[in-house]
Amino acid sequence: MSVRRLAEPAVQPASFAFNEENAAWADRAIAKYPEGRQQSAVIPLLMRAQEQEGWVSKAAIETVADMLGMPYIRVLEVATFYTQYQLKPVGTKGHVQVCGTTPCMVRGAGALMDVCRSKIHHDQFHTNESGTLSWEEVECLGACVNAPMVMVFKDTYEDLTPDRLAEIIDAFEAGNPPQPGPQIDRFYSAPASGFTSLTDEQAIQDNAREWREKRKQAWSAEAAPATGETAAPPSEAARPKTDAAETNPTIKSPSPEKTNPAAERADSVKAPTGNAAEANKADPSVEGEAKQRKNSTEKEGDESLKAPELFKEEPVGADAKGEAASDADTTSAGKDMAGHPDAEAEGKSGSKDGEAS
Ligand code: FES
Repeated sequence: MSVRRLAEPAVQPASFAFNEENAAWADRAIAKYPEGRQQSAVIPLLMRAQEQEGWVSKAAIETVADMLGMPYIRVLEVATFYTQYQLKPVGTKGHVQVCGTTPCMVRGAGALMDVCRSKIHHDQFHTNESGTLSWEEVECLGACVNAPMVMVFKDTYEDLTPDRLAEIIDAFEAGNPPQPGPQIDRFYSAPASGFTSLTDEQAIQDNAREWREKRKQAWSAEAAPATGETAAPPSEAARPKTDAAETNPTIKSPSPEKTNPAAERADSVKAPTGNAAEANKADPSVEGEAKQRKNSTEKEGDESLKAPELFKEEPVGADAKGEAASDADTTSAGKDMAGHPDAEAEGKSGSKDGEAS
């Protein structure tokens, strides 16, 4: 799985705007959501921006954020999470996403990536020389039963062999994409080696016909009881014997109480509101700290911050031990610390240093 980051600034366009048709589509998409929930349109709008430009640029992310009143970081999170969004320019005729998750890997995804390396570019996210094709490795694309597979834009190509993928890449390069789906003789995800049960089509048909006949006869018998006989009451055998509200016969369905959209809206929890412009700024506490450091009035030579530290108003530490060792009149602090194992150890190391020097 690759790290998903925005493209380098050199390839980022200065601005982004939906064209007229897409802008009208975006307005309709936003209007589908209830008042206060317009941010839910972020995924379709990003996808439309990608379909228009071929990839999702920083400018497109910011434009979508402005349209939906969202902080840029929220839209960036969406764009960088889903591998369906291309964050860099990709091949204009095809961008091959090879699934590299376990089921595809054990069925030969590694060989498919080798094909991409040889036919497109050695490295993923690089286009071929003509800029028409590119490739990348992605996580599971949800067609594991037909592994190994690739996705090109919105279509999946499944049950692949290296040779078949090479043909598919050539077809995209020629501007003639092949039929998506399984690339072997199987129907969707039906068993690749043929049915192992219910194999006799005729027997299945006969069985079904026989069952339908019997059911028809049973219904006719129930509907027309013999003269003089009273119809048997419906069986209660299948009726659940519980006190659960769901089985309470007094509860009618559909409910006689009609919904009141206005009241529901009033009861609905409001979507959180935020100030996108404020959210795009750095945290004030971070800025405050930076200023504090910049304008710090601390003096470099502040004596109170210098070693050795004081213990009972006498210096302690390695420097103090050095002095103490050389001083025959041990200070009171020296006496207090003399029995301390650290002090002894440090005293020894101090003498060693002395010897070494
Ligand atoms: S593992 Fe490849 S599609 Fe799921």
